[in-house]
Amino acid sequence: MKRKSKKSEEKTYEIDSDLVLDVQDLRKTYIMGKIKVPALRGINLKVKKGEFVAILGPSGAGKTTLINCLGALDFPDSGKIIYNMNHDGRGQNITEMTNQEHKEMRLNRIGLIFQFYNLFPVLTAYENVELPMLIAKKPELKREQRVKAMLKIVGLEERMEHFPTQMSGGEQQRVTVARSMVNAPLIILADEPTGELDTETTINIIKIFLKIKQVGQSILMATHNIRIAEAADRVLNLKDGKIISERKGGKDIDKIFNLDKEE
Ligand SMILES: Nc1ncnc2c1ncn2[C@@H]1O[C@H](COP(=O)(O)OP(=O)(O)OP(=O)(O)O)[C@@H](O)[C@H]1O
Ligand SMILES: [Mg+2]
Repeated sequence: MKRKSKKSEEKTYEIDSDLVLDVQDLRKTYIMGKIKVPALRGINLKVKKGEFVAILGPSGAGKTTLINCLGALDFPDSGKIIYNMNHDGRGQNITEMTNQEHKEMRLNRIGLIFQFYNLFPVLTAYENVELPMLIAKKPELKREQRVKAMLKIVGLEERMEHFPTQMSGGEQQRVTVARSMVNAPLIILADEPTGELDTETTINIIKIFLKIKQVGQSILMATHNIRIAEAADRVLNLKDGKIISERKGGKDIDKIFNLDKEE
């Protein structure tokens, strides 16, 4: 599917008002010379407002491809990615949006978190979190209130003036969580957010997700870690580009990891 340069004519799709995202029959094949690599083979999934969903799958299952397509960083060959733009049941399909609209989606509607923090090394924690609001031209007073509130949620009020090199890996990832939320997105897409972290810090990040979910933030997290996935409300098993099963999660994160101590 090609990027569009003309503005999509506000074409809307009906979407259940309690959903933020409805993915329909998403397909993507990478072509490497003569070899075709089918990465997504007909993905269907829905995420509700305030729901924490885990995509669990082994290496090569298609997790990053899926997250990148949902985040308008990569483009599927076919299928629909419908976001409930204003929680009003009038969804828009990002595969029909223009480049400009994709930028707008990434800035305001989608929060992205990656395995390797992706913070600007020359900016402080505060400035890193503030950046998406600056780009979105939000007024200074609003920026200050919001950035401080986000840093408080992730427990980093005391680290506001620290540069990334002056923070631990877990602290840096908490900054990216704060940054991902700062423009109040429809959904946070997190690709292996705890991949680089030790157990204690992993638990901390998952607890932050559980906390922000309580205030209505939707989160879709890709991971290969079965135990972390079980803390999410729902776990979707991805294999060879297909969701092969789904189960309820909701396990207590402390209980999941207490098992460790017996090992
Ligand atoms: N840019 C690309 N060009 C060609 N093939 C690709 C590209 N990106 C991914 N693939 C292939 O698509 C499939 C899915 O890859 P993807 O990165 O989505 O998997 P993943 O589930 O995120 O794996 P991991 O857990 O290792 O991060 C793999 O077979 C991979 O080799
Ligand atoms: Mg990946």
